[in-house]
Amino acid sequence: MPIINKLFEIYEARGFEVSSGLNPCHMENDAAAPFTCLFKNGTTYTNGLGIAMQEIYFLECLFADYRPKKIFLIGNSFGWSTIAIALLNPQARIVALDSGGDPKSLEGLEMTNDIGRELTLDVKAVKGISPQDVGTAVAEHLDGSIDFCFIDGLHTNEQIVLDYKAVQPFLTENGVMLFHDAISCGMEPGIEEIKELANGNIDYLQGTSSGMAILHSGNLSEVTATVKTFSFDDRLLDFMKQKHRQEKHRHLHRWKRSLKKRAGPFSFLFTQ
Ligand SMILES: C[S@@+](CC[C@H](N)C(=O)[O-])C[C@H]1O[C@@H](n2cnc3c(N)ncnc32)[C@H](O)[C@@H]1O
Repeated sequence: MPIINKLFEIYEARGFEVSSGLNPCHMENDAAAPFTCLFKNGTTYTNGLGIAMQEIYFLECLFADYRPKKIFLIGNSFGWSTIAIALLNPQARIVALDSGGDPKSLEGLEMTNDIGRELTLDVKAVKGISPQDVGTAVAEHLDGSIDFCFIDGLHTNEQIVLDYKAVQPFLTENGVMLFHDAISCGMEPGIEEIKELANGNIDYLQGTSSGMAILHSGNLSEVTATVKTFSFDDRLLDFMKQKHRQEKHRHLHRWKRSLKKRAGPFSFLFTQ
């Protein structure tokens, strides 16, 4: 069941204007255009942008059949991803941690809890810093275990490894960890380090706007089906990049081809 209309309505009912899912090509090549911004009275409330509309669709696919019971998030901001995940998992207990470091993110914690109460979702947004406060938050609010974790806090290679190490001891068998912005923020080195440490598969989800990465056991068909749809092998990606380059330079290619035709025995001088 899609949740995107409801998610917009929840924030609009609180006086926000929501921008999400815009195409960078239509927005002066702004790479941030697909991500979610909340505005009120001309002020941005989301310094740390919320996940993109296409990523909500990814979550809808992921949670169509996969039903984790205990969910933990690092990086709540204004609760956009917390509430999205809660709407998709009404059966789950959801705990979101935020350091309050981003402007207005403390207000965001309060608002997330208000929304959770209003919708009778089992959501708790708490102030705390990863990695040092993860253990306490998980012990206090999740009885010491996590089935699904979404990591969207500080986007550095060092920090995502720290986030992983803080969460990993609590992850249940077949537990899943999802990392936002892995490709967009150049966190592949951190992800590769986690790959070395982790017991499981890590896949890049190039079909998500930020290029998320997902750690999963490979044993849950309801997870692997969605991972397969949103990830692409290197050969196909190279082909698509090449195709894009060719289209960009198609006039040059046409010109080269026509020169090649005319060059007769010297046509080998003109490569494609
Ligand atoms: C990109 S925003 C999160 C966006 C949110 N997931 C969403 O989709 O709406 C990152 C948030 O992580 C918080 N943060 C940064 N470093 C953190 C840390 N080490 N521990 C906990 N929260 C952190 C910031 O205060 C900020 O609110």
